[in-house]
Amino acid sequence: MLRFETAGESHGECLVATLTGMPAGIPVTPEAINHQLWRRQQGFGRGGRMKIETDTVRIVSGVRHSQTIGSPVAMIIENRDWKNWTETLPVEDYEGSAEKRKPVNRPRPGHADLAGAIKYNFPEARYVLERASARETTARVAVGALARQLLAQFGIEVLSHVIQCGSARLERQASWDEIVELSRRQEVLLGCVDPEAEQRMKAVVDQAYKTGDTVGGVFEVVAHGLPVGLGSHTTWDSRLDGRLAQAIVSMQAVKGVEIGFASEGSANFGSKVQDTIHYDKQQRHFTRGANRAGGLEGGMTNGQDLLVRGMLKPISTLRRPLESVDLTTRESALAAYERSDVCVLPAAGVIGEAMVAIVLAQAFLEKFGGDSLVETRRNFEGYQEQVRNY
Ligand SMILES: Cc1cc2nc3c(=O)[nH]c(=O)nc-3n(C[C@H](O)[C@H](O)[C@H](O)COP(=O)(O)O)c2cc1C
Repeated sequence: MLRFETAGESHGECLVATLTGMPAGIPVTPEAINHQLWRRQQGFGRGGRMKIETDTVRIVSGVRHSQTIGSPVAMIIENRDWKNWTETLPVEDYEGSAEKRKPVNRPRPGHADLAGAIKYNFPEARYVLERASARETTARVAVGALARQLLAQFGIEVLSHVIQCGSARLERQASWDEIVELSRRQEVLLGCVDPEAEQRMKAVVDQAYKTGDTVGGVFEVVAHGLPVGLGSHTTWDSRLDGRLAQAIVSMQAVKGVEIGFASEGSANFGSKVQDTIHYDKQQRHFTRGANRAGGLEGGMTNGQDLLVRGMLKPISTLRRPLESVDLTTRESALAAYERSDVCVLPAAGVIGEAMVAIVLAQAFLEKFGGDSLVETRRNFEGYQEQVRNY
């Protein structure tokens, strides 16, 4: 089974990720991982931190001579800001440390601060936000980069784009080619394929900057080149739709998930929603009238592009803070402010890609198995032959 874990605090020494269950023989280069880490740091609306950190991965196990060797892959991404936090977040306590702490006494509405401080019995929220922070997703993106390497061996690609920023929306479906083109841009604004819609999105973020506010939106992850039959209708926990939903909503600040055109579909009659089935006798394969289901039926991939959307709430750290309570005095006070992002939509899309790639790689290995890429490929090709002859 392919599984991963992450560790690390936002201002700690580093982030750590382990990935267990990768077959041997998957090509891996730090450059491919670093490229995904770079993509996670882009976009208009990010806080100052993105300027100090240029994330780079160090692979410490599981990869030799640029290939996985079947053993757990362990990766480290250093926090370049750590040098400024060694006295604030030391592993070992020291005399006089109390003065160096940076307590967060005024919990931010919408953040993990208050519930976490109460639950873990901390007098203030510093340790909570250090782990709740989406800095953790750097490790997820590194793991996702490895999952992509596996999927790429079988012609599967995962990308994303932004379809809504606050009230500004892309009013049409983007094509796969447009999304590929977007992923090649060296300068990332808001991750929208349509320049006109992107400018409307930028105006929303500009307004949030002006007023000390923040803005959320919707990103769409698209997986292309999938075989029919990843996931299964047979049990609740093998349904791929449920597993993808968990993966996407597990992302910090994501509060909703949509597969295909779920909300539009829920407002329409069935005759307008289901994707009609056709058969091309020349090519000897099934085709569909549309892809409103987003590539999933019965919790299984149906061979069409997978479409998964994440709905991101606006960031909860506001430059013009909301009402809160001081944890020491219990008096009303304005919530804490710490350098923060205003809009993180393109980055959230990249993290969403990583989560989708991980879930797809898990489902792929469940179906095709194998301790080596050669074995996985043999199983995959045998199944594809069976599908072609169906
Ligand atoms: C890419 C990304 C960057 C984020 N940056 C910030 C930030 O700078 N400030 C902040 O308050 N929240 C930020 N968040 C959101 C918080 O991490 C999140 O709201 C918090 O952990 C509470 O979890 P919840 O919103 O899922 O309930 C970010 C989220 C993502 C996906």
